[in-house]
Amino acid sequence: MKRYQMTRRFLIFWTLFIGIGAVGGACAMLYDPTGAFMGMDVVLPYFQILPFADILFQNFVFSGISLLVVNGISNLTAAVLLFRKKPLGIKLGGIFGCTLMAWICIQFYMFEPNTIDTAYFLFGLAQALTGYACWVFYRQVSWKAETVDYPHIGQNPKTLVVYFSRLGRVKRLACEEAERTGGVLFEVRTTERTRDTLGFWWCGRFGMHQWAMPIEEMPDHLEQYETVILCTPVWVFTLCGPMREFCRRGAGKIRRAEYVVVHFQPWPSVGVCREMDRLLGITAEQRTDVRCQLGHYKVLHQEAARQDCSEEEPSMVEKE
Ligand SMILES: Cc1cc2nc3c(=O)[nH]c(=O)nc-3n(C[C@H](O)[C@H](O)[C@H](O)COP(=O)(O)O)c2cc1C
Repeated sequence: MKRYQMTRRFLIFWTLFIGIGAVGGACAMLYDPTGAFMGMDVVLPYFQILPFADILFQNFVFSGISLLVVNGISNLTAAVLLFRKKPLGIKLGGIFGCTLMAWICIQFYMFEPNTIDTAYFLFGLAQALTGYACWVFYRQVSWKAETVDYPHIGQNPKTLVVYFSRLGRVKRLACEEAERTGGVLFEVRTTERTRDTLGFWWCGRFGMHQWAMPIEEMPDHLEQYETVILCTPVWVFTLCGPMREFCRRGAGKIRRAEYVVVHFQPWPSVGVCREMDRLLGITAEQRTDVRCQLGHYKVLHQEAARQDCSEEEPSMVEKE
């Protein structure tokens, strides 16, 4: 909690510092577009190497508006979101650090190396790194807060809740399912790299090719459970690789299944349920399709099984 609060405060500092400075600079440019007010008229010739300079950079109007929008309003918006403890503020705060670095790169291109540009580039870097650290710490504390209160998990040995989760979104839903049903929780772990940016692309490769991803282990005595609830993310519009492997190895051992499919797209992911049905050789009793965006979950569809739907395009018959 401490680390998250500390980085959040630092990020507020950076967004305010850069945002207020940019608004001030932009106002001065717009107040006197010749630049004389700030003694900047002497640098206008340097702008002439930029594209469309004859239209955009004959005075400081365009530069002022750009500064206001790109570094001013943007950072102040992030600051407001951070004050209101919105996770989006953390992301934007970090992203606007990158924007500042990109902005300064243009200045590096125009001007000789100088202390102010170098300092602002480093400020941008510090802001981006603070944003990243803040996001990591935020995820840690928010997940902790979510996991403390599941007293019923494991009380019903007849139900198994299986999940694969890269970043904890599916895990949260799986915990809720296990809490609701009292089921035993089982995490599918893969031996492949799934963490970080490299892991994301690696997973994408498996998703694109619809490959199964090797998993560490299967639960003991899978056939003993009356119901197995499978919670999975969508990868590249298909079933995620580790769950594909789980379904392959679990085929014939699962008597009754329910699915919880999680993704960020605004439409249901019907193909994933169909693939799990096919791999397991059964028709799931219940299918829940959940959209997860920026930590917010929305059930798009919930469907009870129909006996004839395994061969057809499944139509969602019940909507929540
Ligand atoms: C490699 C990869 C590919 C993805 N492809 C899709 C996709 O095609 N459609 C979609 O809606 N979400 C896609 N997602 C997003 C995840 O399904 C979604 O963020 C899910 O909530 C992740 O849960 P987790 O963080 O618990 O693993 C993809 C995620 C990854 C890592």
